[in-house]
Amino acid sequence: MTQGRVYLVGAGPGDPDLLTVKALRCLEAADVVVYDRLVSPEILNLAPVGAASICVGKQPAHHPVPQEEINQLLVRLANSNRQVVRLKGGDPFIFGRGSEEAMELARHGIPFEVVPGITAAQGCTAAYNVPLTHRGLATGVRYLTGHCRQDVELNFDWKGLADPDTTLVVYMGRANIEEIAGKLMMHGLAGDLPVLVICNGTTSRAKQLASSLSQVAHDVAAAGFDGPVLFVIGRVAGLADVKEPCDVVQEKIVASALA
Ligand SMILES: C[S@@+](CC[C@H](N)C(=O)[O-])C[C@H]1O[C@@H](n2cnc3c(N)ncnc32)[C@H](O)[C@@H]1O
Repeated sequence: MTQGRVYLVGAGPGDPDLLTVKALRCLEAADVVVYDRLVSPEILNLAPVGAASICVGKQPAHHPVPQEEINQLLVRLANSNRQVVRLKGGDPFIFGRGSEEAMELARHGIPFEVVPGITAAQGCTAAYNVPLTHRGLATGVRYLTGHCRQDVELNFDWKGLADPDTTLVVYMGRANIEEIAGKLMMHGLAGDLPVLVICNGTTSRAKQLASSLSQVAHDVAAAGFDGPVLFVIGRVAGLADVKEPCDVVQEKIVASALA
């Protein structure tokens, strides 16, 4: 049995230009690409024409391929001497279960490498010129999952999370945003604290809305977003310019820098 190698690659939040050079090199050399639902077709098209591609995509509360089977698939492919790219949205080690796959590969003695990607929090906020930290507005940032396994109740240190000096970025929070916002207010955050909501960030289908902690659950329900949604809670969210399409904002920044 000859052995291949597995690259656990972060594809970034959607825009192919946000791939790292290393991720692109891995993709271009892949024999097989095993990918998740959030990876865009534009990025998959960067793999060689002859490369096999296997979708193991997951949807909230619906797992077409159980994690255990994905782990076994990676082991099998590597053991048949393939260069395997395991492609995940954002960064493979941020709410991506990449670390579980890495542990399984290590357990089977399969060589692997982790190629970090731009996580949704970074890519999506940058698209609206929102800094995650900013002197005088946020001294830190926390990434939080808004969804626990099998709909187990969210059991967070709400008091610790309700810190006005910290930006909170909530992944997978759409179903529980009412509870999350309510608990944060109950523990001291102001109802008028800005919240930026981004759906399909960095893609041509991107949508966003500027809201506040007390209004966000209502606003998101009314928006009827279709795609992955990210919540940015904190004073920095108030810096977002969401009145104009992002490219117009970018053009204005470039123009004023050149003036
Ligand atoms: C399973 S997590 C994967 C996170 C990924 N590993 C990362 O680092 O960005 C999926 C969640 O990430 C967020 N997300 C990922 N891509 C996004 C995008 N383009 N726009 C908005 N949210 C996104 C959403 O909250 C989505 O429910």
